[in-house]
Amino acid sequence: MIITCEKCETKYNLDETIVKKNLFKVRCSKCSHVFTAYKPSHEELQEIIKPEKIVEEELKTLPVNLNSNRIIAISNQKGGVAKTSTCLNLGISLSLLGKRVLLIDFDAQSNLSILMGYKNTKSFYDVLNSGQDRLSEFIEKTKYSNLWLLPSNRKMVLLAQKYLHGKNFEYLLQEKLNSVKDQYDYILIDTPPSVEFFTLNALIASDFVIIPSQCEYLSTHGVNQIEKIIKTIKRNINQKIDYKVLLTMYDTENIHSEVIYSKLKSMYKEKIFTTIIDHDVKIKESQIMNTPVMYYDKSSISAQQYLDLAKEIVGK
Ligand SMILES: Nc1ncnc2c1ncn2[C@@H]1O[C@H](COP(=O)(O)OP(=O)(O)OP(=O)(O)O)[C@@H](O)[C@H]1O
Ligand SMILES: [Mg+2]
Repeated sequence: MIITCEKCETKYNLDETIVKKNLFKVRCSKCSHVFTAYKPSHEELQEIIKPEKIVEEELKTLPVNLNSNRIIAISNQKGGVAKTSTCLNLGISLSLLGKRVLLIDFDAQSNLSILMGYKNTKSFYDVLNSGQDRLSEFIEKTKYSNLWLLPSNRKMVLLAQKYLHGKNFEYLLQEKLNSVKDQYDYILIDTPPSVEFFTLNALIASDFVIIPSQCEYLSTHGVNQIEKIIKTIKRNINQKIDYKVLLTMYDTENIHSEVIYSKLKSMYKEKIFTTIIDHDVKIKESQIMNTPVMYYDKSSISAQQYLDLAKEIVGK
């Protein structure tokens, strides 16, 4: 089990078999702070916010938008900006709002699949190379209500090598999605930190792109690059494609975050989501536990913010 010092936020990996009580005192060896730690029961870790309850409460107040963007790529060629974390936690949040959601792990790193507990499963590579090319055969129903996953595996690396220079290689995902897209309210595609094969396929298959960006001085550079590609796709392939920037890992303790946020807001105006995702240690903790943050700690700031983002998207 992971214990985080409430003062200095140092994390410790404690063997829970040596802990006898559910509540116990510990001293942080870094800052000497003594605090009460809590041993979560298995049931608590697995606790699921009842989707039905949220659906009833939320759907009454949410505006209905039949033209909402349904296939959403989460892209930025800059690495480590929370693409995968956003795909997972936004997907879960949409599913909690009663939407049927398909997540696509379109990254050979397979981080999304790993976070969801899928290792060495089939992937889009197998869709194209196994002789059975119906996409629905490769989609896994996850343990979460309303949530499905097309996982990734290591063979995905071979996709780019095999198809990158082939005719119409950038339409492969769009073509396969046609047979399943009507079965879901939202399809979220997690992409790697590069453009070429994967991101290009994802962008062409999508109606909308979320560009996660950290609140950092150089972050606008990455956003500008993906913006250019989206604009080219809009001009030549899909006039309806649209995008918004999502600020992630916002550090409320740091004055620079605020300054950069104001700068980004004045640059991107309506192209920036109202919801911001704070830097929250609960995201990292939840990933160590292979649990989406709203199941790990539904009262955490990032769980609330991802739910707000889902509402912003549904009500868009
Ligand atoms: N809101 C957050 N607060 C704190 N840490 C976060 C937050 N969001 C993501 N992280 C952490 O940042 C790291 C990068 O996140 P993530 O893997 O989602 O980024 P990515 O853009 O998908 O990376 P890559 O480009 O390698 O695919 C991870 O360790 C993750 O736990
Ligand atoms: Mg990722």
